[in-house]
Amino acid sequence: MIDLLLVGGILADGRAADIAIVGDTIAAVEPSFAGDCARRIDISGRLVTAPFIDSHFHLDSTLSAGIPRYNRSGTLLEGIAIWNELKPTLTEQTIHDRARRLCEIAVARGNLAIRSHVDIGDPALRGVRALLALRDEMRPWIDIQLVAFPQEGYFRRPDSASLLQQAIELGVDAIGGIPHFERTREQGAESIAALCRLAADHGLPVDLHCDETDDPQSRHVETLAAEVVRHGLEGRATGSHLTSMHGFDNAYADKLVALMAEAELSVVANPLINITLQGRYDPYPKRRGMTRVKELLAAGITTGFGHDCVLDPWYRLGSHDMLEVASMGAHVGHMTGEADLRACFEAVTTNAARIMRLERYGIAPGCRADLVVLQAADPIEAIRLRATRLMVLRAGQVIAETAPSTTRLSLGSPSVLDLTAPRGI
Ligand code: FE2
Repeated sequence: MIDLLLVGGILADGRAADIAIVGDTIAAVEPSFAGDCARRIDISGRLVTAPFIDSHFHLDSTLSAGIPRYNRSGTLLEGIAIWNELKPTLTEQTIHDRARRLCEIAVARGNLAIRSHVDIGDPALRGVRALLALRDEMRPWIDIQLVAFPQEGYFRRPDSASLLQQAIELGVDAIGGIPHFERTREQGAESIAALCRLAADHGLPVDLHCDETDDPQSRHVETLAAEVVRHGLEGRATGSHLTSMHGFDNAYADKLVALMAEAELSVVANPLINITLQGRYDPYPKRRGMTRVKELLAAGITTGFGHDCVLDPWYRLGSHDMLEVASMGAHVGHMTGEADLRACFEAVTTNAARIMRLERYGIAPGCRADLVVLQAADPIEAIRLRATRLMVLRAGQVIAETAPSTTRLSLGSPSVLDLTAPRGI
């Protein structure tokens, strides 16, 4: 007996499908399901997708914009200064409460997994403790992975190694780092070697903020790829940001992309943040700052888009809408061709799920019944409209519903407009 049947949805590849759910699992995906079911929901003509995934975020700083002050310049450096003012005032409770609110917003947006970096630059590890508790508390509804992030530098801050060790013992999911922020290039490279060794020793994935700078001489991703191969971490390592790649010489970038593919390195670009924080030192013309997404995808490298920040010292905007992220990625990356736009949708769904190594993700028999129904007919329309998430299901249960977005018009005679593409005109 089927517990729930979603009737007439449109899959991302354009097929119409009924989705039959038993318990927390998708039992069948068929053009027209004929069996008995306890409950049916008609989603005719609506796009139905596996959930949006945010593969790069910071839950410890989110929703704190304005505390203790707003970022007047909008720059990365002033953001760091404000974070250092804010950090001593944080409590486990305030970190938890803001992150919990962000998770609620995420669920409403159909984002059911977040990989969050968490700053370990605190002898009390308040962020780590607060977010580990939140990870467990939210598990029924959203998957959270925590990356222990020595945000002040692994070697720059003398107690980073011991704090990272403590964070691992407390149960974080991955090892982070920030090689371009170490004192010297050499120490940056040494930090990558040390962090990869730690990841290999503990059987954890590694996800480094890497080369988040406009400096075309910042080439730590090359070291990351080499260390990944050396430590047998292929398929379990991610380079986040990689914005310096934007400014690399093309011949060097070509060689590098092949090396990254060999290391099975995955990549997360953060279009909303890269376009705003990078290029600040450039005279006109100014660089866009986002890494070479098209070239990485063409080389078969799993590439996702992350949100990175919402209302924090670095970014005054954002509403954790992964369709806004996909849209910005499309614009910044010149990815407005038909296949490119679909790739942008995949960057916040299937590719991001692969980066987080989520199990049972997708719309196929045996997958967990995590689904999002949108007020759109296809992925490109969803990006275009930042489409309303009509319904979000987790493990076969509806956990969020939003009314369709419509407007009452009075232009001569009254009518109701919705912004989806007109059909039959
Ligand atoms: Fe980040």
